[in-house]
Amino acid sequence: MKETTAIAHPNFALVKYWGKKDSKQNRPAMSSISITVDSMQSKTKISKNTLSNCHRLFINGVEETDLSKIFPSLFYLSEISKSDDYIVIQSENNFPTSSGLASSASGIASFVTAYDAHYGMNLGISDRIEACMLGSGSAPRSLIGGFVLMDHNNNYSCTQILQKEDWPVDVLICIASREAKKISSREGMEISKRTSPLYQDWLGSNERDISLALEAIREKNMSGLEKVTEKNCNFMHEVMKTSKPSIIYMNDVTHSCVAEIENLRASGHKLFYTVDAGPQIKIICDPKSTNTIKDTITHRTDVIDIIHTRLGGSPRIIDEN
Ligand code: PMV
Repeated sequence: MKETTAIAHPNFALVKYWGKKDSKQNRPAMSSISITVDSMQSKTKISKNTLSNCHRLFINGVEETDLSKIFPSLFYLSEISKSDDYIVIQSENNFPTSSGLASSASGIASFVTAYDAHYGMNLGISDRIEACMLGSGSAPRSLIGGFVLMDHNNNYSCTQILQKEDWPVDVLICIASREAKKISSREGMEISKRTSPLYQDWLGSNERDISLALEAIREKNMSGLEKVTEKNCNFMHEVMKTSKPSIIYMNDVTHSCVAEIENLRASGHKLFYTVDAGPQIKIICDPKSTNTIKDTITHRTDVIDIIHTRLGGSPRIIDEN
């Protein structure tokens, strides 16, 4: 039986999106800039379901009963492929799922890549972006490697700002908890849009943060990128906190990592952090400082694990035979 497998990597936003323009079409209300990482991955296999008349989805070997997150992307793709196959989707992550590590972005990007190849569709980038965005607003960024801009003013085009080789920073993902998050980003964004008094200011700050980050990335300016990334991250977490009900993703371990990052910076190391919809903290650093940072965070905080990764590339099809 024909099976097609694709691998895609998660991406972490330096300038984040939190809030949708249109929740039905899942359109972000702002632009974002991210990095795609390498050693973390989602691997998704597609085959025809020859045993029953339904689509089936397995994540890390466990069958999902709710396929509502994958259906919009699947229906967008099957509309183009004209296939009426029922399919089996088997997706595996080599990192914790649904805990703020962008597993939905890499999961959806690997699914879209596998489906495209399975049905020989040869889709252009705008159709792949659309198919990804219907599943997760941040997933289109995982279609591109290195530093990526997703521009909401230009039909959500995703472009590479720098290739991974152009500025080979290290990324350390400090796992502060392995629990799945209690409020999904989709739910959280809707609550913030409706209730946070800071939401309009947050929207208004996006354009400036994008241009500051673009400039810093193009100049490979670590301290410039540090300032805009941390300011943007902390503003997003303020928007979350001032929502009703208040949404808090960071925990004590996240805060103790931030304190250590500030100490390391004061002693001359080049590093900065970002945190998404979960307590995990991602450190972007000069590879010369990686070992010191790892040792310090391991010994002085209660992190469960540190995943060391570099910048990664775009999704690819793999031959599993
Ligand atoms: O659309 P989602 O569920 O992938 O939301 C992503 C939200 C953040 O990770 C917090 C920010 C971002 O731009 O990645």
